[in-house]
Amino acid sequence: MAERSIVITGASGGLGNSLVEVYSEPGTAMLLMGRNENRLEDIKKRAVHLGAQAQSARFPLADTTTLVQKISDFDRENPIDLLIANAGVKIGNVDGIEDAAQMSKILDTNLRAAINTVQAALPGMIERRRGHIALVSSLSAISPQPDLLSYSASKAGLRAYGSALRQSLRATGITVTIICPGFIDTKMTDIHIGPTPFLVSKERAARIIRKGLDRKAPYISFPFPLVLLAHLNNLLPARLSDWCNSGLRAKIETGDDDI
Ligand SMILES: NC(=O)c1ccc[n+]([C@@H]2O[C@H](COP(=O)([O-])OP(=O)(O)OC[C@H]3O[C@@H](n4cnc5c(N)ncnc54)[C@H](OP(=O)(O)O)[C@@H]3O)[C@@H](O)[C@H]2O)c1
Repeated sequence: MAERSIVITGASGGLGNSLVEVYSEPGTAMLLMGRNENRLEDIKKRAVHLGAQAQSARFPLADTTTLVQKISDFDRENPIDLLIANAGVKIGNVDGIEDAAQMSKILDTNLRAAINTVQAALPGMIERRRGHIALVSSLSAISPQPDLLSYSASKAGLRAYGSALRQSLRATGITVTIICPGFIDTKMTDIHIGPTPFLVSKERAARIIRKGLDRKAPYISFPFPLVLLAHLNNLLPARLSDWCNSGLRAKIETGDDDI
């Protein structure tokens, strides 16, 4: 049996790829999830090349039956030490209007599927009284963005869920970490046409996340200047806060996940 067992959703994406790379080492078993066959196979090969035992599972996270099955099967062979619920999708809105199907897709992927992923891994962790759950939220959970209505709501929901879960699992031996990054240079920012201040590379983001997870931090947020601005923004009167955020208006271009 491997010394350490890790599950990463959204492993085929930008941040997911870099997370796989920072965790791939001999003695580590990994379950890598995603939808894009080529990208998923490429990152699996990279993980194996770096010394990990990696397997992939390609399916849409909305398929809860498959999600639960894949995680339970992997957990039986490789009791999960770390689960990183990283998969997510960004689709924008124009003047407050969002297509209903797109809104469902955002909430289903970023919130419902992330919670389902945790639910699938929790029984094993609770039985063993150990494990680490990491949820990739966003700074838009702290300072919601005008052109990302449902996206901000989904990430704020995930942050709230993680915070409640951490309290609920207190004294069970299970750690919960909520990750709130600012802008990371991935496919997701390629479609974000607007300011992306303090943009961080995906490799640096993954290193920051691993460092925080290694010390079992309850929150990991970066980069510092944007974290500070996001929190300060919350302290301002609403009209002033809205004016400050208007400098971050963006158009979200059509991506793979548009319906
Ligand atoms: N980039 C940023 O600026 C930024 C900032 C804050 C937070 N985040 C969060 O970081 C996480 C990773 O994002 P990223 O920047 O790496 O974006 P990305 O490159 O677009 O990757 C997104 C990943 O999520 C997977 N995914 C999306 N919808 C899915 C679904 N329905 N079923 C299964 N997998 C699905 C994608 O799979 P396929 O590619 O295989 O389809 C891909 O692996 C997301 O949760 C995002 O919200 C990103």
